[in-house]
Amino acid sequence: MRAAFVDRYGPPERITITETPPPEPRKGEALVRVEAAAVTAGDARMRAGRFPKGFGALARLGIGLRGPRARTLGGTLSGRVEKVAPDVTRLAPGDQVAGMTGARMGSHAEYVAVPAAALVYKPTEVSHADAAAVLFGGTTALHFLRDRAEVAPGDTVLVNGASGAVGTSAVQLARHFGAKVTAVTSARNRSLVADLGAGRVIDYAETPVARLEERFDIVFDAVGNITRAEGLRLLNPSGSLILAVAGLLDTVLARGPVLAGPAPERAEDFAFLLELAASGDLDPVAEVVGGLEALREAHRRIDTGRKVGNLVIAPGMDGTP
Ligand SMILES: NC(=O)c1ccc[n+]([C@@H]2O[C@H](COP(=O)([O-])OP(=O)(O)OC[C@H]3O[C@@H](n4cnc5c(N)ncnc54)[C@H](OP(=O)(O)O)[C@@H]3O)[C@@H](O)[C@H]2O)c1
Repeated sequence: MRAAFVDRYGPPERITITETPPPEPRKGEALVRVEAAAVTAGDARMRAGRFPKGFGALARLGIGLRGPRARTLGGTLSGRVEKVAPDVTRLAPGDQVAGMTGARMGSHAEYVAVPAAALVYKPTEVSHADAAAVLFGGTTALHFLRDRAEVAPGDTVLVNGASGAVGTSAVQLARHFGAKVTAVTSARNRSLVADLGAGRVIDYAETPVARLEERFDIVFDAVGNITRAEGLRLLNPSGSLILAVAGLLDTVLARGPVLAGPAPERAEDFAFLLELAASGDLDPVAEVVGGLEALREAHRRIDTGRKVGNLVIAPGMDGTP
């Protein structure tokens, strides 16, 4: 099979595409032919060895000193089960599934072996591209909004970075749970985030978030440019500040109204998000950029910090669509 590899941290040019034998599913695993995989801010961090402030040394100890130990990146996938380990009874060859691969990554390849417990059935109404797209930002936004901040109908929610993978999911999920959403984005993404459900849109070039006078029940920072003090000032009493891009210090100090840390990858959340996508309540905002050859360009776009929604590759596809 063909797979993308990163042997050293560095620019997108470090990504190479190589022939390699497909993995064999081990105990509890399914081998999936990857029809679509998202290319995310997480992949770009892993490729570059670029982590939130203070995490550099710790992250490299865990993930790899000079380059990612998981040399094939890619944390989400949608595809078709090819083979299952003998102990796997829940899935069978031919099943259409989607899921996340955790720290082992590996979906930027034609095939990946994934624990069966990390896969859910893909609803037929949802394309492979949309299924792969919705999981990264969707699980993050769902974890912070529903499970940590306990968003409720009528809450006011400020989403900073509303046009990215996390932001587009946060706007839509907050709206889904009955909240009133104010989105912060640049002028060019104004209509996108309004269409996704933001009642109000703030162009950060005109009005920096730190200068806002009003208060919110939930402030969700998906950019990493709101300090803890600035965020707390924007909260109503008993509000929650979500720092999705917290540095080490803010992560260690996160308590009370401040919520930070990694979002878990849970199969029941994948199923929930895919059902919302199937019913049309959650737009995955997916753009298919091509096959494995399109990966470098996708990483370049993420590195600009201006990616809109979710970039998706189709590893079986040659060239660009
Ligand atoms: N804690 C966790 O578990 C977790 C999970 C997933 C992701 N994350 C982190 O969350 C962050 C966001 O991830 P993502 O996938 O959403 O990234 P992304 O898709 O690459 O976000 C790009 C978006 O950020 C917007 N943006 C850039 N500068 C901005 C600013 N000053 N104000 C408002 N918006 C701005 C851009 O909009 P404009 O072009 O309009 O500026 C662009 O659409 C990343 O740092 C990622 O590592 C954390």
